[in-house]
Amino acid sequence: MSDLLKRDQKYVWHPFTQMQTSPAPLPIVRAKDAVLYAEDGSEYIDCNSSWWVNIHGHGNEHISKAVTKQLETLDHIIFAGVTHPVGVELAERIVAVLPPNLTRVFFSDDGSTSVEVALKMVFQYWFNQGLPRHRILALDGAYHGDTFGAMSVGQRDYFNAPFEQFFFDVDFLQFPVESNHVELLSKAESLFKTNEFAALIVEPLVQGSAGMRMYSATFLDELTTLAHKYRVKVIFDEVMTGWGRTGTLFALDQCAEKPDIVCLSKGLTGGVLPLGLTVASDEIYEAFLSDEKVKALLHGHSFTGNPLCCAAALANLDLFELPVTFDNIARITQQHTLFIDKIQSHIGVLDARQHGTILAIELKDPSGRAYFSNIRDVAYAFFLERGLLIRPCGNVVFLNPPYCISNAQLDLAYQAIHAFIDTLSVAD
Ligand SMILES: Cc1ncc(COP(=O)(O)O)c(C=O)c1O
Repeated sequence: MSDLLKRDQKYVWHPFTQMQTSPAPLPIVRAKDAVLYAEDGSEYIDCNSSWWVNIHGHGNEHISKAVTKQLETLDHIIFAGVTHPVGVELAERIVAVLPPNLTRVFFSDDGSTSVEVALKMVFQYWFNQGLPRHRILALDGAYHGDTFGAMSVGQRDYFNAPFEQFFFDVDFLQFPVESNHVELLSKAESLFKTNEFAALIVEPLVQGSAGMRMYSATFLDELTTLAHKYRVKVIFDEVMTGWGRTGTLFALDQCAEKPDIVCLSKGLTGGVLPLGLTVASDEIYEAFLSDEKVKALLHGHSFTGNPLCCAAALANLDLFELPVTFDNIARITQQHTLFIDKIQSHIGVLDARQHGTILAIELKDPSGRAYFSNIRDVAYAFFLERGLLIRPCGNVVFLNPPYCISNAQLDLAYQAIHAFIDTLSVAD
């Protein structure tokens, strides 16, 4: 074991990791574009964009220059009572790429905090008007982050069982599939009619942690329209679906009915620095305007509006203005489609699906254990041996690669996935 790994084992506590049984972590010392370089010189293709964040790959020069320049100009400054050029420019440019009703930008640190802020906004929106509403509607299988509010609106299971007694009231709607749309809309309407619901929160079009489950924009439009009919605020958590993943800049671009709040993070800075944004409508913002200080949104973090993060996010927006970014998104989308055609009838495949650059292959698992499927660990090791960093979600192997990945690198991933599924069917 290398010195780095020994020191890691002595002091570091890794996320989402059973420290007693998990294999030693991968010691990565450098990265460029889609490739990660390990301490021993081996190379890995970052097929999941490091938890969805490095959308342009690693070491992007445009982002790096922007952050370096900002570091030499203004590194950090309190954002309460102070403003700065990159914060203002980021707010302006984010509003410009969102639907016209979303006009107020609140800064935080990551996906979870952007969701916490959205939840506090909707609860206080009703509280400030003297009409408190305490219930939220979410979808079965939802994942919105690991802080308490975000966990409350997420799927209740082994992940958050130790904390469940502390969660607030949330109603969950079954995951939408073609056959249950009518039933779900009728259930949602009966809940909304109570006038107790502050908001509806969804991961639009694709649920990530539930295993890349996909549902239709038509259903989401109908649900959002229904919520609006009963003045229920609608939060789209685009932390994962944002920044080109579903083929458009945001998933909401594929929806006719727009949300009242959108949460952004992950690819927002091109994966270089942590930043969360919660963008709300003017109508929500205005409910906080008052002569009474307590009606303000009394929320903030030490690093709120950090100028380095803002500079990285501005550079990310620049990259989305270059045709090459959407050309690459279209190219990856097309490659995924070709692979799905090839793999979907394989005996080891339960379902193969795609939305834009997200490719998900759900594998048959005799143990039927979904997230804790044994397939996950075996597949992870199998891919590492072949120079690919692919972190399956239970029995769902998925690719959400950086947009700079080449077709040759994609082919290596497809071949390895195919080879892995072949081993499964032999074992079946
Ligand atoms: C849809 C969604 N919301 C929120 C989060 C939480 O983001 P973070 O891990 O940055 O706190 C995630 C993370 O995977 C996510 O997928």
